Amino acid sequence: MTVHFIGAGPGAPDLLTLRGRDLIAACPVCLYAGSLVPDAILAHCPPGARIVNTAPMALDDIMAEIRQAHANGQDIARLHSGDLSVWSALGEQLRRLRALDIPYTLTPGVPAFAAAAAALGTELTLPGLAQSVVLTRTPGRASAMPDGETLRNFAATGATLAIHLSIHHLSGVVADLAPAYGSDCPAAVVWRASWPDEQVVRAPLGELERAVGDHMNRTALILVGPVLGAEDFDESCLYAVGYDRRFRPQSASSPFASPAAQDPEENR
Ligand SMILES: C[S@@+](CC[C@H](N)C(=O)[O-])C[C@H]1O[C@@H](n2cnc3c(N)ncnc32)[C@H](O)[C@@H]1O
Repeated sequence: MTVHFIGAGPGAPDLLTLRGRDLIAACPVCLYAGSLVPDAILAHCPPGARIVNTAPMALDDIMAEIRQAHANGQDIARLHSGDLSVWSALGEQLRRLRALDIPYTLTPGVPAFAAAAAALGTELTLPGLAQSVVLTRTPGRASAMPDGETLRNFAATGATLAIHLSIHHLSGVVADLAPAYGSDCPAAVVWRASWPDEQVVRAPLGELERAVGDHMNRTALILVGPVLGAEDFDESCLYAVGYDRRFRPQSASSPFASPAAQDPEENR
């Protein structure tokens, strides 16, 4: 018996991985995390599967479900929205499974920030403007932020920020970021990225709150940084004419002309 943790993606049912779909179809038990997993994904469960929404459950109750399936020898598909690696409460479940010696696997999913970038039609890292993306949040009732992980500190880097779980706190986000980024810095809110009712609002940081109004709650991402909507940026060397690299050695004497040459892709 194995617990298969699966990133169910940002909302659109066809943004589930093939591996995730096949695991769901093979498991007689499916535990899924609340309203962000669409019914069309649950439709991959086999007929007669036990399907449980864990949103209203405590961790002990979830573990009781897992222990019961373990006793029955039944594999579990455990679905979380987006990817498993951020804000999925994965760590505490894995720790309990390790203590109980119950096997598990992890299948990644499309994270919300990637779906939001697609909705905006943008790359979040552009040469000369930003080469880092900070996935962060503001403090919530259930989660304090560690010292040092403040928006003001992240803003000092000038990186592209993808701020989760914070749309209810938009005025504070803008106040924290404006001193470093400036009121004119491009910003956006993407609500329910990839869902049929997806909405996108773009505005300079200083006008973002007014542009968003009060009709976007909960499932929204705030993105801030000069890359959003930028046209004035450098081209990467990777595809530049004359750039010497393994797949396009520029001469017979190029260090990349030999088959044993290192792939410089990571040095682009
Ligand atoms: C508990 S976190 C889950 C993050 C998820 N594990 C991921 O990989 O993106 C929930 C937050 O992610 C963001 N989020 C999740 N799905 C989203 C979507 N479809 N559109 C916009 N934001 C989304 C929102 O900020 C929401 O408050």
